[in-house]
Amino acid sequence: MTNHINFSERSLEKIPVSIFENVQEGAVFAARKIAELIQDKQQKGEWAVLGLATGSSPIEVYKELVRLHQEENLSFENVVTFNLDEYYPMQPDALQSYVYFMHEHLFDHVNIKPENINIPDGTLPIQDVKQYCQDYDKKIESYGGLDLQLLGIGRTGHIGFNEPGSKLDSVTRLVKLDHLTITDATKDFIKEEYVPSRAITMGVGTIMKAKKIYLLAWGEAKSKIVKEAVEGEPSDDVPASFLQFHENTDVIIDNWGALELSKIKTPWLVGMCNWNDELIRRAVIWLSEKAEKPILKLTDDDYKDWELRDLLVEAGPAYNINIKVFNHLQHTITGWPGGKPNSDDSNRPERANPAKKRSLIFSPHPDDDVISMGGTLIRLVDHGHEVHVAYQTSGNIAVFDDDARRFADFMLDAAKAMDLNPQGTTNVYKKVIDFLKDKKLGEEDIPELRKIKGLIRKGEALAACRFCGVEEPNAHFLNMPFYETGQVRKKPIGEEDINIIVELLQEVKPHQIFAAGDLRDPHGTHKVCLDAIFAAIEQLKNESWMKDCFVWLYRGAWHEWQIDEIEMAVPISPEELLRKRKAIFKHQSQKDTPVFPGNDSREFWERAEDRNRDTAKTYDRLGLTEYEAIEAFVRYKFD
Ligand code: F6R
Repeated sequence: MTNHINFSERSLEKIPVSIFENVQEGAVFAARKIAELIQDKQQKGEWAVLGLATGSSPIEVYKELVRLHQEENLSFENVVTFNLDEYYPMQPDALQSYVYFMHEHLFDHVNIKPENINIPDGTLPIQDVKQYCQDYDKKIESYGGLDLQLLGIGRTGHIGFNEPGSKLDSVTRLVKLDHLTITDATKDFIKEEYVPSRAITMGVGTIMKAKKIYLLAWGEAKSKIVKEAVEGEPSDDVPASFLQFHENTDVIIDNWGALELSKIKTPWLVGMCNWNDELIRRAVIWLSEKAEKPILKLTDDDYKDWELRDLLVEAGPAYNINIKVFNHLQHTITGWPGGKPNSDDSNRPERANPAKKRSLIFSPHPDDDVISMGGTLIRLVDHGHEVHVAYQTSGNIAVFDDDARRFADFMLDAAKAMDLNPQGTTNVYKKVIDFLKDKKLGEEDIPELRKIKGLIRKGEALAACRFCGVEEPNAHFLNMPFYETGQVRKKPIGEEDINIIVELLQEVKPHQIFAAGDLRDPHGTHKVCLDAIFAAIEQLKNESWMKDCFVWLYRGAWHEWQIDEIEMAVPISPEELLRKRKAIFKHQSQKDTPVFPGNDSREFWERAEDRNRDTAKTYDRLGLTEYEAIEAFVRYKFD
């Protein structure tokens, strides 16, 4: 896995960036800074004027502020807040409103005076908005300006809702949202067409007047835009890059948000490196792509031409470095993901023994197994291993109401047609149908409807298991409780979630575990599911069978491992790829347009195939064998 120790001491960053081990550490740092400001102002008998943001980025900061209030007596009596933005139009009591958000995460839990809270008003008639915005800026000025502004960054590079094209001197105003922003907001609004297309936002100019600015960004999804904002030329294409002109801005990110920064991704372009095997691999793969030559054809001159002279001096000549990296990559390739029986396994990713293994595949949602590692799953079954699949969550939130309605209609009709009319049964379906007829935007589903949605996904997963040859008793539906909120937002994992995984592991005692290793998205369900597995492994790591267990991480529908990280590459033949596609097709509720498509218009099977073909093409370009497709894994080593 990517090692951050090797970054160059120098950097190309034009704004100070602090990189934290994880979100919590970064958030606690920001919260402490805010608390210090509040206390400092208290001592002086002054207002602390805070500019606040919503979205996922500041949630942990607010959590820490609430803790500081409740446990360490931090008072908000002297705090005045101005929020960055609000959707327009928007009712304050709507679940998606920023008013609701701020109360839920901060205001309801601290002693701030209601009259000191300012959030742009999404209920105004359109003709009043302009004046309102001018007054909003004036009100900020009347308090002597913002002492501190907290910001997130959108994937468009927006700060507040200042989308690309926003000028440096822009003021608080009504704006149109960028399409990518609307896509990102869809998770809160269920459907894209329900996301308001406009918002009221503080301007870039308003933000720039703040005396101190903290910009927060967590997770890999933000890493590209963070790099553009802090290393790129300041321009209105990436409004956050204007912060380079601000005298007192700090960017606070976690390890994954830092992935694209030059000093981390390509440290050899920035300064001297401490070369180790991992970094050498990364550099050589990068060089092979840049020079458009397979690894074994790279020459000393190529290394010199592409700023890798330093590596040549350390580990050269090119021939030696090339061979070492090439051999490593070759040894990652195996058509035997469960190990090749009766063969020397010293250079293979998996062990030869036992020849027949118990393989346990964890799938966070009911379709991640086949989307992300369907080819490997099919191969494990074909090779005679005892394959178990554990579906961690019900996935019920991702079923369209209309699909659930079809099933409820069907059950009601079937009950009538076959004269199966015990009151209870038909009443349940009638209740669901009536609820759906009047369901309001974002309204939480009633339990019966959630059940139906979960069962739809369970049926699909079972169909895919049958298709792949997984025995039905080996399909485990864990329905982890953290997921069952009926809302997009989930509970944190608890003991009960971890215990479910512990029990399953003890029951199966697998020789190998496959899990979705999306550690880079701090907010996602995949990460939570992985945390539960890691916690269970931690509890069981001293069991003899666990000591012999290999844990392989695959990545979810959205990304693949970097080539230099891959430790097992399983080639997929054209026929197997087709079988994998058909297994994915069993997940009918996710076909065509799923409820949560992300910002990718391709269907899941298309994404999976493109990605597996891309990996194969990259191996081919690097000079390894040419395959149709490759599924990739990284090994998680616990001690
Ligand atoms: C929210 C706001 C936005 C968000 C940005 C990032 O008040 O103004 O600029 O900060 O869209 O959103 P998250 O934090 O959800 O990734």
